[in-house]
Amino acid sequence: MAMIALKAPDIRVTVVDMNASRIAAWNSDSLPIYEPGLDGIVKQCRGRNLFFSTDVTAGIRDADIIFVSVNTPTKTYGVGAGRAADLRFIESVARTIAEVAEGSKIIVEKSTIPVKTAETIKTILAANSKGLEFSVLSNPEFLAEGTAVNDLLNPDRVLIGGEHTPQGERAVRTLADIYARWVPRERIITTNLWSSELSKLVANAFLAQRISSINSISALCEATGADVDEVAHAIGCDSRIGPKFLKASVGFGGSCFQKDILNLVYLCEKFGLPEVASYWEHVVRMNDYQKTRFAQRIVSALFNTAADKRIAVLGFAFKKDTNDTRESAAIHVCRELLAEQGNIAVYDPKVPAGEIISEVLGKNAPANPRLSVAKTAAEACQGAHAVAILTEWDEFKTLDFKKIHDGMIKPALIFDGRNILDLAKLKAMGFRVHGIGRTLE
Ligand SMILES: NC(=O)c1ccc[n+]([C@@H]2O[C@H](COP(=O)([O-])OP(=O)(O)OC[C@H]3O[C@@H](n4cnc5c(N)ncnc54)[C@H](O)[C@@H]3O)[C@@H](O)[C@H]2O)c1
Repeated sequence: MAMIALKAPDIRVTVVDMNASRIAAWNSDSLPIYEPGLDGIVKQCRGRNLFFSTDVTAGIRDADIIFVSVNTPTKTYGVGAGRAADLRFIESVARTIAEVAEGSKIIVEKSTIPVKTAETIKTILAANSKGLEFSVLSNPEFLAEGTAVNDLLNPDRVLIGGEHTPQGERAVRTLADIYARWVPRERIITTNLWSSELSKLVANAFLAQRISSINSISALCEATGADVDEVAHAIGCDSRIGPKFLKASVGFGGSCFQKDILNLVYLCEKFGLPEVASYWEHVVRMNDYQKTRFAQRIVSALFNTAADKRIAVLGFAFKKDTNDTRESAAIHVCRELLAEQGNIAVYDPKVPAGEIISEVLGKNAPANPRLSVAKTAAEACQGAHAVAILTEWDEFKTLDFKKIHDGMIKPALIFDGRNILDLAKLKAMGFRVHGIGRTLE
């Protein structure tokens, strides 16, 4: 929404959210999310044509176009628990729109939703519409956290799905014209509603599948002495495969990949396609395996006991340049190491201490003296038996590892869960080194 406000100064954009503290943060000097470049854009547009408010009713009533961007988490109860998307927030927005709208509106599904959700929204609106005209469009968001501003400025494509009726086509044109202010027309793809809804789930499934594929090979590389980065480079040079998204790691995280694949799995099951469901489910299973395998390698290298040993965990966000920790691999690894009675000292440049503690131990759980948060990487590593890199923050590449080694218990172990360090150099300093899919003779 900030990008639309920036590129279309004549359009008034109001972001409404019922979470008052989030809206207060959006109206303050410290935004609720860290995203490179976003601060400047919000500051430039806020108060001009970009507004943040908790008045959801007025926001809906006054808008011609409503982007529904609410959360669609994995269901935790009832039918489809653990797989299906929980659509209660989508449904409640549809009901509010039907209730408060006084004129015709275009409703844009921006949240990631299961195929056929537009049908649900349309049915609710039709049953309550007081004769108003509503068009429902699907416009999934493909930005990646950490590079969101650039992704929005230069998207590979913008996808708009709509109905093939005169009203639907008019709505598609209206939305396409907004993006066309800065996105070349040939990158604005229009499809039918169901193709658009499904494409978002499929895009995330394919991206996650590449990570799980290279991670599965990393295990084989460790067993054989092959180097996964060399393998990734060699196969990525094939233009049919391509070099991107082939970085082996401790596993993918983030709020979307797992949730969206599970959603796809559920849809396949619901439509009677168990083989297709099981194929995609293994992408998530491989990711769980990779996280567990990483934690177990740490324990095994610590002579099979992490009990009372200090382990520095560097990085907690699910990837660099974001403070988002949802489904971060670090959560899983910290929990496994705590279960082994290790003493964990976490450091992350952007994630607040309270959030780290509550993600690992659970909200409102009592403190665990084995889990602490350090203010610097050096502080976390001081007196540690092992250091584990969990997020690829740039600052970890240039740490003073000589000094870190001096302050550690020997043998000093280092586990590079993101393959960002020069392991040969670290080995020469005296570290025992472990990468993902890499072994040093
Ligand atoms: N985070 C990403 O990078 C990303 C990328 C692409 C797509 N998506 C999709 O976008 C959607 C939102 O993701 P997110 O990460 O922003 O989630 P989020 O949980 O951070 O934000 C959702 C917001 O919606 C608000 N909300 C819920 N119901 C509401 C209602 N009835 N009225 C007003 N506000 C309401 C919540 O208070 C919350 O602040 C999800 O479907 C997600 O899959 C996210």
